[in-house]
Amino acid sequence: MCGIVGYIGNRECQEILLDGLRRLEYRGYDSAGIAVMQGERVQVRKCAGRIAQLEGLARRNPLSGKMGIGHTRWATHGEPTDLNAHPHQDVKGNIALVHNGIIENHGMLRNYLEKQGCRFVSQTDTEVIAHLIHSLYKGDMLQAIREAMGFLEGSYALAVICESEPDSLYCVRLGSPLVVGMGAGEMFLASDIPAILPHTRDMLFLEDKEIAVLRRDGVRVYDAVGAIRHPSPYHISWDAAAAEKGGYAHFMLKEMMEQPQAVQGTLSAYTGKEGLREMLPGKVERLDFIACGTAYHAGRVGAYYLRQLAGIESAAHIASEYRYCRLFPQTDAGVLAISQSGETADTLAALQKARAMGMQTAALTNTVGSTLDRSVKTTLLTYAGPEIAVASTKAYITQVETLLLLAMDQGRKNGALSGERLGDILNQLGRLPEKMEEVLKKQTPIQHYCDGHMNEKLMFFIGRGVDYALAMEAALKLKEVSYLPCEAYAAGELKHGAIALIEQGTPVFAICTQEELLEKTLSNLRETKARGAETVCICPETMEKRARQEADLVWTVPDSDPLLLPLLIMLPMQLLAYHMAVAKGRDVDKPRNLAKSVTVE
Ligand code: AGP
Repeated sequence: MCGIVGYIGNRECQEILLDGLRRLEYRGYDSAGIAVMQGERVQVRKCAGRIAQLEGLARRNPLSGKMGIGHTRWATHGEPTDLNAHPHQDVKGNIALVHNGIIENHGMLRNYLEKQGCRFVSQTDTEVIAHLIHSLYKGDMLQAIREAMGFLEGSYALAVICESEPDSLYCVRLGSPLVVGMGAGEMFLASDIPAILPHTRDMLFLEDKEIAVLRRDGVRVYDAVGAIRHPSPYHISWDAAAAEKGGYAHFMLKEMMEQPQAVQGTLSAYTGKEGLREMLPGKVERLDFIACGTAYHAGRVGAYYLRQLAGIESAAHIASEYRYCRLFPQTDAGVLAISQSGETADTLAALQKARAMGMQTAALTNTVGSTLDRSVKTTLLTYAGPEIAVASTKAYITQVETLLLLAMDQGRKNGALSGERLGDILNQLGRLPEKMEEVLKKQTPIQHYCDGHMNEKLMFFIGRGVDYALAMEAALKLKEVSYLPCEAYAAGELKHGAIALIEQGTPVFAICTQEELLEKTLSNLRETKARGAETVCICPETMEKRARQEADLVWTVPDSDPLLLPLLIMLPMQLLAYHMAVAKGRDVDKPRNLAKSVTVE
């Protein structure tokens, strides 16, 4: 998705803006641009393509000034062309602005503005905002932005500079994140923390409809009716180095290798001398999860944990479905929204719906200060550190871990889980990072497998119960980074249709973590083998001997408590996706058509 960066201070800003945009590259984009207040004029450089092209443009024709804004655009309205790239300007070029989000009523506003004589040069919804603000501007930008907000429908994070107010950088948000970084004698603006983290770790997170006016010496925040607000700054604990590759070929690889520490850090945060801390206040009769993509898959594992350990009803819901489905109020039920970024539009909307239905709500996120974090009273944090690769790996693993701890806490409170069993799981969790290291070291066979299978047309991942949830995540990971078509299936469901896709040599991976379901899943694997499939079984060492009798290939992970096996088994699946993407020459950290945080519906 699009990224925003802004600066006002005493330094030349072109390099600061370009550096910020480079740090936002991971979000996915197809054009980029900057606008700088140069002398008395706003000047723009923008182009389709990568930041490197924008850098070339800016170096050939540099901008000099101490206030500016920058943007990476992920095309929604209009092709990724030079003209559609942000910043956009009004007719006279007095104003330049960048925008994340979508203006839903842009067609109607465009017609209206065209009738007023505005000449549009791009196909974007964003250009409408520039002309609109210009038409409302009567010498007070704060007022013009406030009035423009009354016309705009949709979601936006906006940063605006204007020739008539050369000492102020304006920004406003509705449904799309914006963070203000506070330096000494200089202020920064960004859609994401990593863009400005090298400059400051003290951040203000804007709420919906708040307008911030950044000046060199400070920031003023106003609500929608113009009253001054005093939001408290957050101090970000991780530093810029945590959001850099640190010698690894890709962020995805680095983040996978960081998983043992991430699991250790998350465990330490929720345990102490007294054992497991309370995860959520009180106990619930039912707890559902709402999330998207990988976070939804973590929620499916969480629902399994809650049923197993706390004996309570639990289900995971896709947030974009949940927000439009008919719900029945359940006052004794809780809803936990799961999101790495804490900014996913569908997840935030689903949470609002659950709250409106009277359900108790809480959040699980990796991003302190995110919209999700700020919109609930209780947040469970994962301590994975910044996740930059579009493909979520360490955030998923720590989400699953935190949901396990949550289920243990609920089970302890309602008597379903004995203190002895709880202590046993905690002990094994303590030893898990070491076992994870062991799995992560064994990359060569996976690499060889990928080299030999990079031209497959289709792959299957099958499993039963919680293993089906793991199969879904394994398939999503492989699809998103390698673009290899694959299907995740409940093992027993395959013969009801999808088995027709199996041809000679089609790879089928069976995920087996549950002893009691091993024979059932192996029998489904046998069914595929009988139709020509090349079968692989992923299981703990104890199951290896039996698996070898059925599968062409067996990949094992160290034995562990069955509840912890999902955390180990997912590692070879992530590595499979990564090495397949490398073998196929994909842009691993920035897969096509994807964005790190999906802030539009
Ligand atoms: C993960 O690999 C995906 N890129 C994607 O499915 C992601 O998990 C989803 O968009 C939800 O993001 P969130 O956790 O930030 O809400």
